[in-house]
Amino acid sequence: MKRLLSAALLAAAMSSAAYADTIKVGIVGPFSGPFALQGKNFKAGIDAYMAINGRKVGNHEVEIIYRDVPQADPAQSKALAQELIVKEGVQYLGGFYFTPDAMAATPLLQQANVPMVVMNAAASAIVTKSPYVVRTSFTIWQTVSPMAQVAFDDGARKVVTVVADYAPGHDAEAAFKAGFEKAGGSVVEQLRMPMSTADFSPIMQRIKDSGADGLFVFLPSGPPTLGFVKAYNENGLKAAGIKFFAPGDLTQESDLPALGESALGLQTTFHYAVSHDSPENKAFVAAASKVIGNAAELSFPAVGAYDGMHVIYKMIEATGGKQDAEKAVGAVKGLSWTSPRGPVSIDPESRHIVENIYLREVTKAADGTYYNKEIRAFEKQGDPGLAAKK
Ligand code: PHB
Repeated sequence: MKRLLSAALLAAAMSSAAYADTIKVGIVGPFSGPFALQGKNFKAGIDAYMAINGRKVGNHEVEIIYRDVPQADPAQSKALAQELIVKEGVQYLGGFYFTPDAMAATPLLQQANVPMVVMNAAASAIVTKSPYVVRTSFTIWQTVSPMAQVAFDDGARKVVTVVADYAPGHDAEAAFKAGFEKAGGSVVEQLRMPMSTADFSPIMQRIKDSGADGLFVFLPSGPPTLGFVKAYNENGLKAAGIKFFAPGDLTQESDLPALGESALGLQTTFHYAVSHDSPENKAFVAAASKVIGNAAELSFPAVGAYDGMHVIYKMIEATGGKQDAEKAVGAVKGLSWTSPRGPVSIDPESRHIVENIYLREVTKAADGTYYNKEIRAFEKQGDPGLAAKK
């Protein structure tokens, strides 16, 4: 079976080695189920990019083919990536909301001669799994490291960490502990929760009982983050003065209407706020709002996808439409541009995006809506997670 699959991959790599009129791009993400809004944001970012930049690169028409993996499911992700390569003949893979889904598809890339552009998945290690992975989102180490210092500067000394029990959660736990202890604080308890956790009351009780003066949390954006922030309020932790520290996954813009007052004042660190004040972001938000249909649904996966398309267009340009993963990836090493999030570049060594990380605070606008207001920038951050693991 394994050999048969390998033969099919090789055949796919060779059959589309000729110049193609249509370049197919396969996007794997959650397009149904509880995380469907995150996948909808992938699509909004891709559609916005193509609305602004056209659907052609040179003479080549770009066609996007979507495949749905509703929850983190590495086996399904790998099977769909394989199907996209072998049956659909895609020259590029992209998307990947969850780390395990991205990880699972990396063994296919080299043999199939296909680059992968990760548009969300954020465990540091993904880029080390294949030389054909490029990432345009963020890593958990990148967004969390500045938060550890912010927490100490805010007066917190004893913090409980709470994370989803999978690779990005483990990265978050390690990144916060490293930064917070270096600053002089201590992590008094480390709690890990199954990804499927929906009732956060027991964990809130444990945090209260721990005597900590703050909590740090990372969960994948979607129903878990909405549930956690609600529970933080409803279980009286906010009222008790237990400080809240988290990366921006916990206060994504699309959750803010449902969170309302309970999110007000929460500070998070992240690579993108929908409110970012720049001409590039205004153009992006206008185009993405139009395609998503409701501006309040816009969130960070859209910008990862938008910039991911920029990278794929540059790869198609550099290869003249020919399937050559090594040349394609080589062409974007060191690439820099102005993203809707601010200035970015692809680090030539790690193939991960270098970007500003912003400290933001959930703020009420004059019209009564809530938004993440940028209050400080940590400029040109690489991924500290790769160095930490060496
Ligand atoms: C991931 O699985 O890598 C992931 C998912 C959702 C997030 C961040 C990271 O908000």
